[in-house]
Amino acid sequence: MNEREIIIMGIETSCDDTAVAVVSGGKKILSSLISSQSDFHQRFGGVVPEIASRRHLEAVNLLVEETLREAGLEFDDLSAVAVTYGPGLVGALLIGVSTAKALSYSCGLPLIAVNHIEGHLYANFLAHKDIELPLAALIVSGGHTNLVYIQEHGSFEVLGRTRDDAAGEVFDKVARALDLGYPGGPVIDRLSSEGDSQAISFPRAYLEEESLDFSFSGLKSSVLNYVNRKMQKKEEIHVENLSASFQQAVVEVLVEKLVRAAERKKVNNIALSGGVAANRALRSCLSRRALEEGLTLYYPPLELCTDNAAMIACAGYYQYLRKDFAALDLNAVPGLQLSSKSDNM
Ligand code: KG4
Ligand code: ZN
Repeated sequence: MNEREIIIMGIETSCDDTAVAVVSGGKKILSSLISSQSDFHQRFGGVVPEIASRRHLEAVNLLVEETLREAGLEFDDLSAVAVTYGPGLVGALLIGVSTAKALSYSCGLPLIAVNHIEGHLYANFLAHKDIELPLAALIVSGGHTNLVYIQEHGSFEVLGRTRDDAAGEVFDKVARALDLGYPGGPVIDRLSSEGDSQAISFPRAYLEEESLDFSFSGLKSSVLNYVNRKMQKKEEIHVENLSASFQQAVVEVLVEKLVRAAERKKVNNIALSGGVAANRALRSCLSRRALEEGLTLYYPPLELCTDNAAMIACAGYYQYLRKDFAALDLNAVPGLQLSSKSDNM
């Protein structure tokens, strides 16, 4: 089997982006399209599940056709179709899963079920041709925060996860309290660059000494209390300073725990991915720390940090090599977690 000729179509509809991509050999993006719905959700301050499903349904078939056309391919050229089956919004996931199953059945293509969180991790394998295993990875998104040790493809250990809010979720909630719109991460990132990260002291939750879990609810309450107190006293809020101080509290904990994970697993390679990996303070703080610790850091380019289907196709490629295929009764699993797994288990 010539690995370079394996062409996987990826389909991603777990939240508010309809995305389809075609990737060759697990590395080369032949075409990657995203139809974003964020304008439709913005006025509600968050994703409205019913609207998300309807928009996915309207967009997905056209996007499949357009992606193939852009790549100059026919359905016959594909080796398999990979789809996100969880975690995410159930109605939204079902649109992608049904589309992939229909393609699989009608075109005789193997079906591959991809965990969205694993998909984020694989954005790094798309972006860095030279990435080496084993590595410790931090996957930080709107819905999840996970620290993972990857020994080899198909074999990894979850070292820690959030016990309450995901990192991106806290960015979004703080932004909503400040009336900054949705999604909050990019706005807070931008405002922070004009603020003083030492201006306000917010708590950092490192939890028990040995723990690689996260908790952001205390920080979130502390920021919301600060905002409420200021509003009650009718005092002006310095939004740039507040953003920068809040952001710094998130970044410090994320960086520290990823470095501790690398130490614990005795690895030299670390990776960052997921929507929050687009955060400039996180990228620069982690780059600095990696240099000090002698670690090699990988993170994807901005367009591969947030949801996209190329990362799903890439994760699908490695599952294809392991013949890890799904049956046509595949269902969406909205509460799917990332759990430790090993090919030898
Ligand atoms: O990976 P993603 O597109 O979707 C999920 O799987 O959740 O991540 C979206 C999350 C949102 O919470 C958004 O606010 C956050 O990533 N985000 C950021 C930045 N860009 C996106 N958070 C902090 N700084 C950013 N620059
Ligand atoms: Zn995501």
